[in-house]
Amino acid sequence: MSFLATNVAYADPQAEVLHWWTSGGEARSVAVLQEEFASRGGTWTDMPVAGGGGDAAMTALRARVLSGNAPTAVQLKGPAIQEWYEEGVLADISSVAEAQGWADVLPASIANHMMCEGTWCAAPVNVHRIDWIWANAGILSANGIEMPTTWAEFNAAAEQLQAAGITPLAHGGQAWQDATVFEAVALGIGGPEFFQKAFVELDEEALTSDTMVAIFDQMRIMRGFVDENFSGRDWNLATAMVMNGEAAFQIMGDWAKGEFLAAGLVPGEDFLCMSTPGEGFLYNVDSFAMFDVDGQDNIDGQTLLAELIVGENFQHTFNLNKGSIPARTDIALDDFDSCAHTSAADMAASTESGSLLPSYAHGMALRGAQSGAITDVVTAHFNSDMSSADAVSQLVAAVANSQ
Ligand code: BGC
Repeated sequence: MSFLATNVAYADPQAEVLHWWTSGGEARSVAVLQEEFASRGGTWTDMPVAGGGGDAAMTALRARVLSGNAPTAVQLKGPAIQEWYEEGVLADISSVAEAQGWADVLPASIANHMMCEGTWCAAPVNVHRIDWIWANAGILSANGIEMPTTWAEFNAAAEQLQAAGITPLAHGGQAWQDATVFEAVALGIGGPEFFQKAFVELDEEALTSDTMVAIFDQMRIMRGFVDENFSGRDWNLATAMVMNGEAAFQIMGDWAKGEFLAAGLVPGEDFLCMSTPGEGFLYNVDSFAMFDVDGQDNIDGQTLLAELIVGENFQHTFNLNKGSIPARTDIALDDFDSCAHTSAADMAASTESGSLLPSYAHGMALRGAQSGAITDVVTAHFNSDMSSADAVSQLVAAVANSQ
């Protein structure tokens, strides 16, 4: 297939790009875009904001926009795209989207996130899945442990490992990492309909249910499987613990696979991937929005970036490195590993069965104030001895205050 818009020559395309891809696997991935941009004559000014998950990047973005100096292109996703659009600061990239036929190659579930009142306001990069367990294959086989298919099996495996002196769960110390584990547990214990009600619709009955209590109970159990030094640790250092045999499992989106791959490790041999126990698929689509800026060189830079991001080559090569699967449905997955194949097959099955759900922890389901309110409670519970009942009361109050 060919694009109408490809290989348009621009005089001097410029882009200052704000993103949070700073780990080994992430940097290797974003380099694909930097190289393609440069090969088309672009000048890329990098604005990486470390921290993972995007919280620090969004703080940096707010400061830049408030001072009247927005970056040209920003890694932005989920309802935050529409929130910024409502501020009147996003550029319309519909001309590229229409010339490239984005509507024909993107699933509706992804395209909808990229639209602002009928115009295209963001370019999608990938589909990350959140609900994954990663494991050190050697540790599991040495201890006669299979990948867990229920939370009870997970708990039993973790207890066995702990008794053998092995840290069961590699975890880091940022609120978004707690939220990542929490939403995988919530999907597993509550199921897709519960997840939709609680974390998409903010339904009070779901938020106050016994199911929510059970989810916090499991989080308390998980807290006991984490090593003492987790606080402040970045997610990729937790992944490194699994790689190095310092811990058995990590529950993390498939950007963790980008780290294993960057280290030359092979899925199915050195490390294992499996969806967390339960039904459904939590998706997290990375995307870029262009901010309204002056100057033809910047506008050309934005057009070129949007074109490259949804281009076939970038979608293929970036996602091979990043651990995600392409946002486009027409990219062959022959070069992708078994975890990516599982992801694509499960996404298709979940779309059919209605259990494809947006990640709340990664800003796909709710507006920032609402997801932030939930995460504050999740992390306060995880990092204290708060009871599950108290966590549920705080959750309901925090959600009510955030509306
Ligand atoms: C992003 C990923 C990123 C991860 C860790 C997620 O919110 O969607 O692209 O790799 O955070 O930084």
